[in-house]
Amino acid sequence: MSVLDEFVFGSPLYTAGACLIAFLIYKATTYTDIPHIKGLPEIPGAWPIVGHLLKLGEDHATTCEKWWRQYDHSVFQIRLGNTRAVVVNSFEDARKMLVGHQSALIDRPKLYTFHGVISSTQGFTIGSSPWDDSCKNRRKAAGTALGRSMMRGYFPMLDLESYCIVRDLERDSNNGATEISIRPYIQRYALNTTLTLCYGIRMDTVYDTLLREILHVGSAISLLRSASENYQDYIPVLRYLPNNKKNAYSKELRGRRDAYLNLLLDKVRVMIDKGTDKPCISAAILKDQETKLTGVEVSSICLSLVSGGFETIPGTLTSCIGSLATPEGQIFQERAYQDIKQHYPNTEDAWTNSYQEEKVPYLNAIVKEAGRYYTVSSMSLPRKTVTEVMWNGARIPPKTMVLINAQAGNHDTDHFGPTANKFDPERWLEDTSEGSTFAEKPSQGLAHLSFGAGARACSGQIMAQRLLYSSLIRIISSYRIVASESEPPNTDYIDYNQFKTALVAIPRDFKVKLIPRDKEGTEACLASAKARTSEFYKEE
Ligand code: HEM
Repeated sequence: MSVLDEFVFGSPLYTAGACLIAFLIYKATTYTDIPHIKGLPEIPGAWPIVGHLLKLGEDHATTCEKWWRQYDHSVFQIRLGNTRAVVVNSFEDARKMLVGHQSALIDRPKLYTFHGVISSTQGFTIGSSPWDDSCKNRRKAAGTALGRSMMRGYFPMLDLESYCIVRDLERDSNNGATEISIRPYIQRYALNTTLTLCYGIRMDTVYDTLLREILHVGSAISLLRSASENYQDYIPVLRYLPNNKKNAYSKELRGRRDAYLNLLLDKVRVMIDKGTDKPCISAAILKDQETKLTGVEVSSICLSLVSGGFETIPGTLTSCIGSLATPEGQIFQERAYQDIKQHYPNTEDAWTNSYQEEKVPYLNAIVKEAGRYYTVSSMSLPRKTVTEVMWNGARIPPKTMVLINAQAGNHDTDHFGPTANKFDPERWLEDTSEGSTFAEKPSQGLAHLSFGAGARACSGQIMAQRLLYSSLIRIISSYRIVASESEPPNTDYIDYNQFKTALVAIPRDFKVKLIPRDKEGTEACLASAKARTSEFYKEE
């Protein structure tokens, strides 16, 4: 080393300069929108730039559930790249956070890919909108359309759509000889109900091209919404990489979604002109019978309802049928069938009363358990604080992202007992010993976390429950569902989902045999349902 080198590198000034640069690099690479929250445990091992993103892996809910047990903190903070997030895991803490601090948690964060790229044309869905007057109006309009008092208006739709499930199952299952995959029928069911609500339009065949396009694009967008798929939301530098494939793909999906949303709305316009439109949200607004909502707001409401139901319902209902089809599930099915018979000795009555009321306790228990056990939106939808939240002495500042680990809370043994990890509808029933009739346990408030809670809870909860109930009563009263031996369902509450990175779970494929319970009875129910519904929602 030369004398000059020694002078420069050995000097205190050099050391101080090197330290300062190292400090600035450290600060820049560990910067977060919200500084470290004092008094709230942080999971160790965050890396510069990415924070905990890599450690979280693909399945954030399961990793956070493990961290909760490993570090013994149900509520902790993590870093998603440059974003600080508070994660809530136990059932009690989730309830306290969502219900006890509902006004403080009324906001939702904006994410670069979803809000900046995908949603820039049709507006945000309600579930992804920050809280402002427009969101308040849209949530109110959706809440009114989906409220209990509006259900009566949807009876024809529920009758028709649940009839179509059994009609096509009957045709395709070949009297129990052919094993079939149930999900496509349920996807059509879910999509048709929300399309009818929004546009008065439905599609009759399971493999209709437009139906499959809507489902395909919707699922692809759901994949782009989860944190594990979108590092560019949290590591801004990634957005500027040349040839950004994520942005290009997001734009392609946006174009395809715009095309079908516009097509649907145009169909409604044509029907209005011809005077053949059916009562639905968009026709009501286009005809100016509704509140002062803008065109983008109407699109946003329709988009919210269509995307709110089309994956959550199939995810829950398909997985539920998978659990009922297993050898253990046969017992639940038999008891459900007994209970249906108890309330409706005649199968025709079970069919015609399937969509107006939810009277069979065992079925209600199955619906609740399906929602709890298969937490299809495992990390719920992200929230953001608008005001400070005091949490056990820690101050969570405004604008902090709060993530509710609904999967962890729904399988919390401290709340649901040692059988929390089992699918057991009878946890919701009073004593089920031999000879007793089934009765639901009195409601204790929030049953599970799958619909969220508080000021931004799911607007479609009542409709979702009715959809699950009315299809199950018709399917269970028509068939004994038996799992395929070669392609059985995966009923693990984590592993049933084939795409861990998606915002909403997509169950792994499986097949079932449908053994007719009373062939003639079902045929009679199908014939009268066909006659009853043949004129509903027909395009003229
Ligand atoms: C099993 C079915 C369903 C599940 C598991 C589910 C789950 C959820 C969850 C977890 C949220 C966020 C709640 C929170 O932040 O606390 C949500 C919000 C929402 N859901 Fe659902 N949902 C279902 C069905 C539906 C249906 C059928 C519709 C409409 C037809 C719907 C419309 C909405 C809307 C509009 C929001 C946004 C609420 C807001 O941000 O203010 N959902 N849902």
